[in-house]
Amino acid sequence: MRTILVVQGKGGGPKTATVRNLAVAAAVAGRRVGTLDTDPQGSLTHWHGLRPADAAPIIHEQRPLGAVTERPTPHGLDLLVIDTPTAVENFPQATALLFDCADLVLVPVRPGPEDLVSMQAMLPYLRARRRPLRLLLSQVVPRLRETADARAIVSAMGAVAPVEIPQLQEVPRSFIAGLGTAEIPGTRTGPLFRDLWLHLSAAMEG
Ligand SMILES: Nc1ncnc2c1ncn2[C@@H]1O[C@H](COP(=O)(O)OP(=O)(O)OP(=O)(O)O)[C@@H](O)[C@H]1O
Ligand SMILES: [Mg+2]
Repeated sequence: MRTILVVQGKGGGPKTATVRNLAVAAAVAGRRVGTLDTDPQGSLTHWHGLRPADAAPIIHEQRPLGAVTERPTPHGLDLLVIDTPTAVENFPQATALLFDCADLVLVPVRPGPEDLVSMQAMLPYLRARRRPLRLLLSQVVPRLRETADARAIVSAMGAVAPVEIPQLQEVPRSFIAGLGTAEIPGTRTGPLFRDLWLHLSAAMEG
């Protein structure tokens, strides 16, 4: 089993949207997928409860970060995707456990100054964990000057996923439907999340 930890600094998003869309992309590709919601706010858990009965199965568990005292060891999965709350630094031991079990740490970054400052502040912590890392530009508005600036800044921070997720209303809409965009025909981000899964899957094998 492979484990992807989705984590971020102080900035607000989009962790949960990344977790659920990545989990769905892997599930529709035929993998046995689990999700772990360590955010006490439980939005991933809420989304999972909305999944239609005939949607690709995703095994879900909710365990607030403060209650994580051992490495998660779900059985019979190909992939576990872990969602985290915003201030993981408040739970250093639990967070360290999650980093220890991560085959890859995925950090979504929005191309704005606040998120980039927050990302910069978190870099020393991320690097000290010594886990394979990918930064994911998300909620991107392609033609903005800030987007071009952000591309340059994040590529100097570490390995950037070769896929950018645009800012599109189909993403919040898929939350309410209990779906990921990879299982909604005609979405623009669906194929992008599938590409992201293929990239991360190859990165974890390599
Ligand atoms: N690509 C996108 N396009 C448009 N809206 C998006 C996109 N990705 C996420 N969002 C929206 O942005 C908001 C924040 O995203 P999300 O809930 O994933 O952030 P988060 O990091 O999990 O936040 P929190 O720290 O509160 O858990 C949500 O309303 C979500 O639907
Ligand atoms: Mg969240």
